Amino acid sequence: MTTNNTKEIKKFLVKYLSEKVEDVDETIVDYITGVFEDETVTGDQSELIEILSPILMDISFSADEEDAKVVINDLIDKLVQEKLIIIKLKQQLTTLSQPVALHKLDDRVDAAVSWMKQEESISIVNKEQLEANEKRYNARRDARLAKEERKKLRQNAALAALNNLKEQQTMMSSLIRGSNQSRDIHVEAFSLNYGKTDLIINTDLHLNYGRKYGFIGRNGTGKTTLLRHIASREIGIDNNLSIHHVEQEVNGTDTTVIDCVLEADVERDQLLKEEKRLNSLPDSERNNLTAKFQSIYERLNAIDAHTAEARASSILSGLGFTEEMQQVPTKQYSGGWRMRVSLARALFIQPDVLLLDEPTNHLDLFACLWLETYLINWQKTLLIVSHQREFLNAVCTDIIHLNNKKLDYYKGNYSVFERTRNDRLKSQQRQFEAQQNQRKHVQAFIDRFRYNAKRAKMAQSRIKFLEKMDVVSEVSDDPTVILSFLEPDPLSPPILQFQDVSFGYTPDKLIFKNLNLGIDM
Ligand SMILES: Nc1ncnc2c1ncn2[C@@H]1O[C@H](COP(=O)(O)OP(=O)(O)OP(=O)(O)O)[C@@H](O)[C@H]1O
Ligand SMILES: [Mg+2]
Repeated sequence: MTTNNTKEIKKFLVKYLSEKVEDVDETIVDYITGVFEDETVTGDQSELIEILSPILMDISFSADEEDAKVVINDLIDKLVQEKLIIIKLKQQLTTLSQPVALHKLDDRVDAAVSWMKQEESISIVNKEQLEANEKRYNARRDARLAKEERKKLRQNAALAALNNLKEQQTMMSSLIRGSNQSRDIHVEAFSLNYGKTDLIINTDLHLNYGRKYGFIGRNGTGKTTLLRHIASREIGIDNNLSIHHVEQEVNGTDTTVIDCVLEADVERDQLLKEEKRLNSLPDSERNNLTAKFQSIYERLNAIDAHTAEARASSILSGLGFTEEMQQVPTKQYSGGWRMRVSLARALFIQPDVLLLDEPTNHLDLFACLWLETYLINWQKTLLIVSHQREFLNAVCTDIIHLNNKKLDYYKGNYSVFERTRNDRLKSQQRQFEAQQNQRKHVQAFIDRFRYNAKRAKMAQSRIKFLEKMDVVSEVSDDPTVILSFLEPDPLSPPILQFQDVSFGYTPDKLIFKNLNLGIDM
């Protein structure tokens, strides 16, 4: 765009602007005129809009950026119509007719790029104005970035709220489920693998509501992996059951142990928070919320919220937390104790399906006995991995055995399982041997008469009989590994000796002091 009619442009601008703005400042008109005359910025219409729109918004000529854009386009059109400016098309790229060696151009190159050097005299636009304009432009860019940042934060908050809601829905599902919806879990013909290792192949999972299953199997066969898949519903559990897998200790935070357990009941926690929020409203607003308060109290009543603290406290004390210990922030506890808090949370919220993996590992004898009694009275579905036969005997109504990459089901506790399994194996072995015997006889008949014309038909029918026979497989157990150790020479005492040993993580808090201990053979 070029023009030599500075005065004319100014006149036109004054007229154009004063139609909408009362007092048109001369400096502003000068500035806008300067922009229209500046060839370095007028090659690009969007740049013109970017430079001019804040000015138009500043002088209240247009309300927002979109408006300003329309006005500037209109202004450009009118200036062109009045022949005050000429729009130059953007220069096209052209191919040179012959190669040019830049290093040979010397002075001509310097001359050609001299316009790039910053010389104040070249600028037609008022420098202060431009700086102010640039400042405004930067401020707008910063505001835009801040807005995007706020948007991201809002999205993250929304996502967190959504996750919270999902968790809450799972917790509440057992309360709102209709009576016709089954609380049993039946997954048919599923397989499970860890990477390339097959752990379970083509087997069924059946968990009936209210039964307490002991889940057993050799180390590394996939028990923990299956619990994880049940908890995440990855193996196709589609009903609305609340499933809780106690796997990790709670995080150590400033929340006290008792609050950490109480907060696990998401519905109660949210009702109490809502009640607190409503109570903090001014009297005038609060008086109109009687119905809302009523529904909160009814719901709190329905879920026995008034006994929640006593229930949580009794579970915690069963697991070894004294009244004082319950008031201590979780961050002050070791991993083992925080694992107990995690277990307490699970027992407190009473999910439809509780999955426990070696829960007694973190407990002392008293806590173990308490948990045993608590689980004996558990009314919902329980699936528990444990290597302690006494515990399984006391708690379980059924045993699921992960063996040969299949799940085998047994009614009764661990002792009954052992007997039943022995009987089953013996019976299977007997059937297998009987069948092998029968097959041998039939095969002998076939071998003898296959080529005998008179008996060929009979031999054929026996071949078919063998083919159709349901084969009883030989009893196969997971492989047994036998380790043998050489008899060592006796060691002379002492093997291990502590003399006046003290230890602590910090000098002011010793875990043991002046310990004397000796171990001999
Ligand atoms: N983090 C891991 N890295 C590599 N392999 C793993 C990992 N976790 C599990 N596996 C594989 O999956 C198999 C099953 O592991 P899982 O922990 O489910 O067994 P488990 O029956 O719970 O054993 P345990 O009785 O010792 O707790 C393991 O044998 C191993 O091959
Ligand atoms: Mg395990």
